[in-house]
Amino acid sequence: MLRRALLLALLALPVAAQDQGAVHGGPVRALAVAPGGGALASAGFDQSVIFWDLASGRARAVVRWHAGAVNALVALPEGGVASGGEDGRIAIWPADPRAGQPLRVLEGHDAPVAGLAWRDGVLSSAAWDGTVRLWRDGAPPLVLEGHRGNVNAVAFRADGVPVSAGFDGTLRAWRQDGSAEVLAEFGLPRNALAALPDGVLAVGGVDGLVHLVAREGAVREVLSGARPIVALAVNASGTLLAAASLGGSVAVLSLPDGRLVQTLDGPGTPVWSAAFDSDGRTLWTGGADRRVRRWDALAGRALGPVGEAGEAAPREGLDAHGARVFRACSACHALTAEGGNMAGPHLHNLFGRRMGGVAGYAYSERLARGDIVWTPESVADLFTRGPDVVTPGTRMPVQRLENAEDMAALLRFLDQATR
Ligand code: HEC
Repeated sequence: MLRRALLLALLALPVAAQDQGAVHGGPVRALAVAPGGGALASAGFDQSVIFWDLASGRARAVVRWHAGAVNALVALPEGGVASGGEDGRIAIWPADPRAGQPLRVLEGHDAPVAGLAWRDGVLSSAAWDGTVRLWRDGAPPLVLEGHRGNVNAVAFRADGVPVSAGFDGTLRAWRQDGSAEVLAEFGLPRNALAALPDGVLAVGGVDGLVHLVAREGAVREVLSGARPIVALAVNASGTLLAAASLGGSVAVLSLPDGRLVQTLDGPGTPVWSAAFDSDGRTLWTGGADRRVRRWDALAGRALGPVGEAGEAAPREGLDAHGARVFRACSACHALTAEGGNMAGPHLHNLFGRRMGGVAGYAYSERLARGDIVWTPESVADLFTRGPDVVTPGTRMPVQRLENAEDMAALLRFLDQATR
């Protein structure tokens, strides 16, 4: 309930002048980096998953398929991604998700999916129905029962054993026969889990504590913060662990010693999700500011949000204020036909164009209907009431512009730059 209220409050945030560049319509709850780097997926409370090309900093695709928040993501081999939602469903996305429909849907959980992990052809899911499920291609899932209450996180330990943690404060390792060994009991709910390459597990809880749990069960506290841990991420070599806390900063610990090396504080906190890039020191975080940000975790330095890297300098003679407002759009829209379709259709000749009118772009059903002609008035309406209200069912993440001067500048800029 609290989460719903929070979600509604956060979705209502306008795109304020100092907040241009938000790409999601709500907090970014999950991130997944492709194992080889180069691509990233982000997902959030706005029900959408955005697929990023990291070289260009552009969004390749936005899909909006889950009926509710997207809580979990995991990268699959060959560029695919699995997403888990508040709707209890898991969607398997292909490397090119532009058609907007998943390759496969895994159904069975009857409460929100909170965590996903993948290893050697097996997808593991944790859900608030109290179960962990193991999904193998084509076979019915193995349902693992034993936790009392919500299961919040899953991982595969380095030896391939599925592990989970949840509301009951336990960390469990699941045997082949479906029974569980309780590796550790913390008393208070555990929210996050990360598997280190040496077989150690990192576990974070509502009490702000992060523990390392060795294979034979030895438990060591490495962080004690004041606020609940919401996300943990470990780099591929197992030398850095990032722990994000609710409403707070991100602690970066060195491993195996568990020493605090950096505290990432600054733009983009509170952070809801974190994932290391393949280089082992770049950390991506998803925050309440609806952006995906990049950090040098070792140096403790903010490197700026995704989407800004690919931004071309505004052309000579265009409205500079409007160009700044358009930064909230540039990760997904090109202004010219040559710029092509990115996650969103190009905006060339926007004014006078019928909604859903760019040939070759796979629109949602709502936009494909084409019952609106884009004019300065209808675009102003779209971003005053919001795409979710004007075109319900659209894949464009919620964006609102409340400042009349920003709106006027955006419309001037679009008029100049899309001709
Ligand atoms: C995260 C990506 C993303 C961002 C950011 C974004 N859009 Fe979109 N936009 C989309 C997608 C995706 C669609 C197509 C939606 C559909 O098919 O339902 C779209 C559709 C549109 C359309 C309708 C186009 C048509 O051909 O009918 C307009 C106009 C538009 N966006 C303008 C903007 C403006 C202006 C901004 C910035 C204030 C913006 N968008 C920000 C992804 C985005």
